[in-house]
This record gives sequence, structure tokens and C-alpha cells, in this order.
Amino acid sequence: MSDKNSEIKRRRTFGIVSHPDAGKTTLTEKLLLYGGAIQEAGAVKSNKIKKGATSDFMEIERQRGISVATSVMGFEYGGKKINILDTPGHQDFAEDTYRTLTAVDSVIVVIDVAKGVEAQTEKLVKVCRMRDTPIIVFINKLDREGKDAYDLLDEVESKLGLRVCPLSWPIGMGAEFKGVYNLWEKNLKLFTDSSKQKIGESIKIEDINEPEIEKHLGESDTEMLREEIELVSEVYPDFSKQKYLDGNLSPVFFGSALNNFGVQELLNCFIEIAPEPLPKQSSQDLINPYDDKFSGFIFKIHANMDPKHRDRLAFLKIVSGEFKRNTNYYHVRQGKNLKFSNPTAFMASKKSVVEIAYPGDIVGLHDSGNFRIGDTLTEGGAFEFKGIPSFSPEHFRFINNADPLKAKQLNKGIDQLMDEGVAQLFTLVSNNRKIIGTVGALQYEVIQYRLEHEYTAKCSYENYAAFKACWIESSNEEQLEEFKKLKYRYLAKDKFDRLVFLADSSFSLTMAQEKFNDITFHLKSEF
Ligand code: G4P
Repeated sequence: MSDKNSEIKRRRTFGIVSHPDAGKTTLTEKLLLYGGAIQEAGAVKSNKIKKGATSDFMEIERQRGISVATSVMGFEYGGKKINILDTPGHQDFAEDTYRTLTAVDSVIVVIDVAKGVEAQTEKLVKVCRMRDTPIIVFINKLDREGKDAYDLLDEVESKLGLRVCPLSWPIGMGAEFKGVYNLWEKNLKLFTDSSKQKIGESIKIEDINEPEIEKHLGESDTEMLREEIELVSEVYPDFSKQKYLDGNLSPVFFGSALNNFGVQELLNCFIEIAPEPLPKQSSQDLINPYDDKFSGFIFKIHANMDPKHRDRLAFLKIVSGEFKRNTNYYHVRQGKNLKFSNPTAFMASKKSVVEIAYPGDIVGLHDSGNFRIGDTLTEGGAFEFKGIPSFSPEHFRFINNADPLKAKQLNKGIDQLMDEGVAQLFTLVSNNRKIIGTVGALQYEVIQYRLEHEYTAKCSYENYAAFKACWIESSNEEQLEEFKKLKYRYLAKDKFDRLVFLADSSFSLTMAQEKFNDITFHLKSEF
């Protein structure tokens, strides 16, 4: 195998998703410890917005700093090059997480044993399932009292729609937590206070009926474990790597990230089963990672924290070929060539200039305003990657210029913030007024603050009562024209000039769907 091909083959690019506080940051940190990428606990900063910080903009700025540093964390483990893509936990930044999920080849979902499946986890898993992304589940905080393992797995199946297959099984929980039996590596891992923060030894147990096991667990726990393992094998399907890779079966591990318990088991299994870089659909063909020609797409843009330097960092996911420094690549949307003298690679929280990068890798490109989320770079090919849809926002407000002398700055600021994907801009067809749509209310404050501090522009907002934004499509021209006439006041254009219906209520959307049955109303911008 060529060097290039073996480099591609050993890459594993994934994201960790969870509801805030389930333990995503802690797990990330423990994974990096195994990879030797960091030396001590506490090195990875949580990028969550602390409760009550809604109006604390220094906090938001600080978080932006952290989230650049932890956007991508690369490390080596077991001969594999692993890239963890960080996703913001705060639900107001869910859109950012959705986009990051377009750049991963698999995900690990973290669930708090006491809280079970929470709202944010449900939303994020739904997005993963739209693309059949392979999912591993890690049930965390077993050192605390929580839900019964079977109930929890039922909840994962019913709320997340995943078919599960436990690959480890807990022995007790909370104060009575004794450890886990690892069905994947067939060993027993005991939890003792002394194993805290250390990488503990495991005891090989090929068969759950071996008498050896009683020496470690005592009679009654052994009996309970044997019964439970038998039940597990009756209730849940056997593990199948293919089903996992197809997104049809999710292995489950139990542990405690904080105590570094069950994490290595998860990681060992992950590097065995997680997918290598996958082909990606473009506007022309399916692009294979092993193709000779380079291609990639931008899934995230970060503005510079220093207002004096307006450049931004665009995150490029490499899909095929090799990406090289100082080489001309074709920016498909703009139809021009660009080359990059300082592309950045991410190893743990360190950044360094990269000479060459492979499919699966993420490279940071310094950008003075050329990129928009979703842009494709190629080695000449004129195709574009699909699959970074915008979802209908939940909140809508008119944005007004509050300083007439700064109209130019305001427009530029809005444009750039929208390119970064901070929020979505809609322009009403009837009067050209601008509406900002967001996933969470926090974004309005972020936009106002950043417009003022980075673009010296002032804005004010005014409520706009919309329920959902629907991208509309129809092959029935007549009906479309009739719809446009009737709903003229509610029509807007998104930033790509696509027609959007801003339904004012769930009722009016249903009515419109019934009346105009040849029109499809999409709640996302790509269909
Ligand atoms: P997040 O990124 O998913 O939001 O979660 P994070 O890792 O920040 O963890 C949230 C809280 O849960 C943290 O406590 C963390 O220490 C705790 N935690 C994570 N894993 C475990 C575990 O296995 N067992 C127990 N008992 N707790 C766990 P915190 O008090 O909110 O923050 P901190 O002050 O400890 O950082």
C-alpha cells in the first residue's frame, strides 16, 4: 500500500455528542490522556457557556477562544491517527454542532446514567441518524446512583431510535459499583478507589462461568453478573461490525469518565471498529478518499478573537487526495485559485503549520473573507460537496441599523457573521427588510456584541412572529405562482437567494401544506 493510502486507512475522525454536563469534556480529556496528547487531567477546558452567563460577553469571548483551541484534537493511539471534533454543548449553538457532524465519520454519544437520554442528545442523534453515522454509546457516571441498566438501554432504543448491543456490563452502581465485565475483550475490570485517575489492570476472563471470577467479585455478585450476562445475550443482538458501520447497531459501554474507568475499553473497541474516512457525495460523483486528486469542504469558520486582525480560521475537512501547503487549489463557488502558506494542523490543543494532510484530517486555513460554510476546494474539479444544510431557525427578529452612519459596516458585519454560520439571514421579498433567524436567543446578543466590537456597527432588533422557515419546492409552476401571490407577505430569500416561506404558525403551515399539495415545504435548506 502506498504511504498515502496507509495514512488514509489509519485515520479515525469522530465527534463526541451529549447533553451539557453528561461528561463530554471529561471523556475527551481522558481519551487524550491515553493518546499521550496531554499529560494531566484538567488540560482540556470545557467550552460550555456557564449557567447564568447569558449576558456576560467576556465569557462568550473566552469561550470562543477555548473553542478555537479545542475545535479539533488529534492524537495517536494504537497505530491510528485519531481526530476528535469538538461540538459546543450549549443548545443555542446546536447549528454549529450539526455542521461539525457533517465532518465526522462516526460519533460517540455520552449519556449520564442518572439523567438518561436528555433533549439535546435526542436532537443530535437524530441528525446523525439522517446520515446513518455509526454511533457508539458511552453511559457515564456509574460511580453515582443512576437508572437500571436495562431501563436505560430501553430508553436509548425508544428515545434515540438506536438498536443497541452492550459490549460491557456494569456490576452494581453508585456506592456499590464494583466494575464492568467487558464483553468485547472478555475481561473483568474492577473499580476500586485506588484505580481512580489511573489506568487500571484488567483481569482476563474468557468465559463468564470461570470460577476465577468469584475470587474477585464474591459469590452473590458473580451469580448476579452471570444471570445478567445471560439475559443480555438473549435480549440484545450479537455485535456485528457491519451493522454498526451501516448505522444499524450501536455498541454500548458503561463507565465513569471522571474516574478514568471504562474509557480504555471504549477506546480499544473504537479503534478496532470505527470507520476510516468515508466517501462523500458531491454534485457530480461520490468522491472516494483514495482518489488521487485533492478535495475538501469548509464546515466551520472562526473569527479572529483579536479585532485588529480581521482574518478568520476556516476549518477544512479533507475528503480525498493529499492537501499540501503552498499549492494552488480551486475554490469552486468563487471560481478562483487559492493557496495557503500557513495551513494549521491540530494535535491535541496545539496548533502547528502542516506540510501535508490526508483525508480524515482537519486543516485550519487563514481566511480574509473568501470562505463561507459549505464551500468546496478541489484540485481543479468543478464539483461541490453536499450535505451541510441549514435547519429552520427557532427564533426570528428584524434587524435594524441603529447608527445610520455605519450602514456599510453593519452590512459587512452581518454578511461575515452569516458566512461564519452564527445565524441565518432572510430578506423579505415584499420590502427587503432583513430578518435574523437563530436556534437560540443567545445568538442575538452575540451578534449585537460582535457587530459593535468587531465592525463598529450598532443594531437593534424587533420581533418577527414566525413559527418556522420552510424552503419551498414544486414542479407545479401554476400552483407555485398562486402560492407566491397568496403568501407574498411571508416570502423571503435566504442568502443563496432560495425562496423561503416564513410560516407564522403551525396552523398556517398545515393549511398551506393542505391547500398547496404540489409544493413541498422543507424544514432544511438541502433536500
Ligand atoms: P460536558 O462537557 O458534557 O458538559 O460535561 P463535563 O465533562 O464538563 O462534566 C460535567 C460534570 O460531570 C463535571 O462536574 C464533571 O466533573 C462531572 N463528571 C464527568 N464524568 C463523571 C463521572 O464519571 N462521575 C461523576 N461523578 N462525575 C462526572 P462539575 O462539578 O460540573 O464540573 P467540574 O467543576 O468538576 O469541572
